[in-house]
Amino acid sequence: MRERVVVKWGGGLITEKAELKTANHSVIDRLAAELTEVVNNGIDVVLVHGAGSFGHLKAKQYRLAEGRTEEEIEGPMTQDEAVTAVRNDMIELNDHIMAALTAQEISAVRLPPHDWVHGTGLDFEAKFDLFNSAPSGIVMVTFGDVVSRDAPFDFGILSGDDLVARLVQELHDVKRLVFAMGGVDGVLRHAPKEGEAQELIERLNPDTNYTGEHATEMDVTGGIGLKVKRGFDAAKHECDVMLINGEVPGRFTSACLGHEVIGTRLTVP
Ligand code: IPE
Repeated sequence: MRERVVVKWGGGLITEKAELKTANHSVIDRLAAELTEVVNNGIDVVLVHGAGSFGHLKAKQYRLAEGRTEEEIEGPMTQDEAVTAVRNDMIELNDHIMAALTAQEISAVRLPPHDWVHGTGLDFEAKFDLFNSAPSGIVMVTFGDVVSRDAPFDFGILSGDDLVARLVQELHDVKRLVFAMGGVDGVLRHAPKEGEAQELIERLNPDTNYTGEHATEMDVTGGIGLKVKRGFDAAKHECDVMLINGEVPGRFTSACLGHEVIGTRLTVP
């Protein structure tokens, strides 16, 4: 049977996080080239990407993660208009990703979550059959998005980290889950500080102590803490889980192929 891997390209890796709607094209192009090598090794890939500056900034301003609010929100749009705007922005970011895959002659299909997901967090309802019906060799692409929820919330933010954990559970035969991140080699013992050496945790189990960094002023999802949590959810399903630095050429391919690579491996007892 062909191997299947689920990968997440973090928003901080593929966009300039602080600059509204700015894609990091050089990184996206290189990751697409690395993905070709994975596909050419006969591995089926589900690619999930984050939002970075195409999602978090507007979602934060209009408090979309909280769902509908009667409170007044400052800005030119209503919350409903902001829902549409962020969905469109995510499609725009995804267009960049799809173009980079096409340039590498990778066959890919995109599945925007607002079309097939209802609810947020790990227990969202979804049409996972869409993924199982994909022919071998086609990369299925999806991403963090604004999705519908039950009233009174009406909408909310689904993180790509929740998506990858559920995909591992629902697709059953997933061999590996790789989180490619920007700026860090994996999970660090302490949040990175300018001028201080970073201590990488090479093996992380649910009892390992670390102090994560979470850019709450920007992120509407969960930062490194959510990745680790969802990573452990996936690891319970006999899936190898790695967090790596996607900025260093070659590491993404190595992790997808199951080769030794610098990063953090999650282990469950
Ligand atoms: C967030 O998705 C989605 C939106 C804000 C619309 P993620 O949680 O997967 O995004 P990153 O990786 O943190 O940017």
